[in-house]
Amino acid sequence: MARILTGIQATGTPHLGNLLGAIRPAIEQANDPANESFLFIADMHSLTQIKDAEALRKNTYAVAAAWLAFGLDTERSVFYRQSDVPEAAELAWYLNCFFPVSRLALAHSFKDKTANLKEGASSVNTGLFTYPMLMSADILLYDAEFVPVGKDQMQHLEFTRDVAKRLHSTMGQEVFVLPEAVTQESVMLVPGLDGEKMSKSRNNTLNIFEDPSVLKKRINKEIETDATGLEDPKDPNANPIHQLYRLIAGDAAAEQMADQLRAGGYGWGHAKKALLEAVVDGFADERAVFHQWMANPQALDEELGRGAARAETVAREVLNRVRGTLGYGQR
Ligand code: TRP
Repeated sequence: MARILTGIQATGTPHLGNLLGAIRPAIEQANDPANESFLFIADMHSLTQIKDAEALRKNTYAVAAAWLAFGLDTERSVFYRQSDVPEAAELAWYLNCFFPVSRLALAHSFKDKTANLKEGASSVNTGLFTYPMLMSADILLYDAEFVPVGKDQMQHLEFTRDVAKRLHSTMGQEVFVLPEAVTQESVMLVPGLDGEKMSKSRNNTLNIFEDPSVLKKRINKEIETDATGLEDPKDPNANPIHQLYRLIAGDAAAEQMADQLRAGGYGWGHAKKALLEAVVDGFADERAVFHQWMANPQALDEELGRGAARAETVAREVLNRVRGTLGYGQR
């Protein structure tokens, strides 16, 4: 069995792009009996940017509820909240002591994040700087073999292997499994309501868990269509409606819509209505399950708590290995 581990950023309720592009494929992989997955919500990393207890808690719940609504099997996978297994913070400290500042200073993500901060140098906290060491700890703490990540995280994976090797050579003992990055290539490209890539920062997202009335407003207002008359033939790719419809309703239904648009007598209003119905009906079950979880945060805490207990069993063992190597007592 391959041990796969991924940290999930908690930046709010996942939108259609997150769900189809990342979450659904990750769940398929996690539910595959050939794999043993550790999936966690990286809420300690969130603290580098979010200093609002209520927002932090809510984001975590929304992300957890979305993964559960999309069918993550939590018997098979270990699903937990990073902050529920604080052993990662302990390991991060040890790793800090083996990694050169000069190398950490080369992190692209740190440079990007600090370049964009409006508040000035005082908001560049040390957590942002050592972020890659906490991420390395997340991975090494569980003897993870494979880490599926986006391109932007490749350098962090290099740091992870690097710091593990540095500790090995300094201490003269192998304690860690060296993880391999797995880049997700065939990620589905989901267009946003403006036709550009769907992303929260562009404010062009479709939040499928939203109420149908809100979804309707969003689709009608935010997708711009040209003024082609009802009877005129239309280019199905003149706006993202048809493309979004394909991703949700499937190829056969989408071909039918494309034919109708090309033929004329079928308006953008009809297409929008079809898209809305596809979103509302196509994700009806997921929406219901999502809201059940959100209405019961205690149940979410219990679910994540069970995951944390399983994670902690592994974490303790690995950490004791490290503690022994460094000259500390066993816990
Ligand atoms: N830094 C990752 C991201 O921004 C999230 C993350 C935290 C992570 N810890 C991890 C990913 C460990 C993989 C493994 O997406």
